[in-house]
Amino acid sequence: MKKILASNFKTNHTRASTKNFVEAIDKFVKQEGITNDVFIFPTATSLDCFDVCENISIGAQNAYPVTDGSFTGEIGTAQLDEFGIKTILIGHSERRHILKESNELIVKKYDFFKSNNYKIIYCIGEPYEVKLEGMESIIEYLFAQLEGIDLTYKNLIVAYEPVWAIGTGKVATVEDINEIHGVLKQKITAPLLYGGSVKTDNIEEILKIDSVDGVLVGSGSWKIENFIEMIEVAEQLRN
Ligand code: PGA
Repeated sequence: MKKILASNFKTNHTRASTKNFVEAIDKFVKQEGITNDVFIFPTATSLDCFDVCENISIGAQNAYPVTDGSFTGEIGTAQLDEFGIKTILIGHSERRHILKESNELIVKKYDFFKSNNYKIIYCIGEPYEVKLEGMESIIEYLFAQLEGIDLTYKNLIVAYEPVWAIGTGKVATVEDINEIHGVLKQKITAPLLYGGSVKTDNIEEILKIDSVDGVLVGSGSWKIENFIEMIEVAEQLRN
């Protein structure tokens, strides 16, 4: 099975360093004949018409569910079309919790980008207080985040990212990932990623978990050499 490796830049990198990053990853993927799927999510200001090989997709971290209009500070599909972007992250915990996106808006975005045939990486994950309540509460919380989401959509990828593990250096244990992914897999046939403090030194054990189809990585992937190492590890596991 193909693995998926996604790098989420969040609010990092400039146009110039994004170009360097994308070109370096593209060169590596081509040279090494990488067969896994690689995604890069730059900031909106660094999107461009990158000439990448077919295993690499460039996606948007966010967009408003419109073609265009009056939504100050947002971008719509007209701006994404200019760069041929057809991939988007929806439901990331930073948008849910810091930017206060409601479930209602998230479902609206999902439906809109689905109807426009985007590949969607849809993120779910429980905050620390829910984790403390135990497995039953975690599952209930995650299932609530899937409500209203068409899980049969063919261009869907789901990412399980515990909120307490994002950018904190704390990773869910292999046992917890295995158990939670196992339950999610009973409901979801789409590929299922893990995210939350994935680094070069833990990616191998995470990718070795059967129910993990790939990883969504933030800080651990922002240096070219680190993301390349992750792509290499994933490729070796495939062989
Ligand atoms: P992190 O972020 O790898 O820095 O924890 C993951 C994410 O937010 O997707």
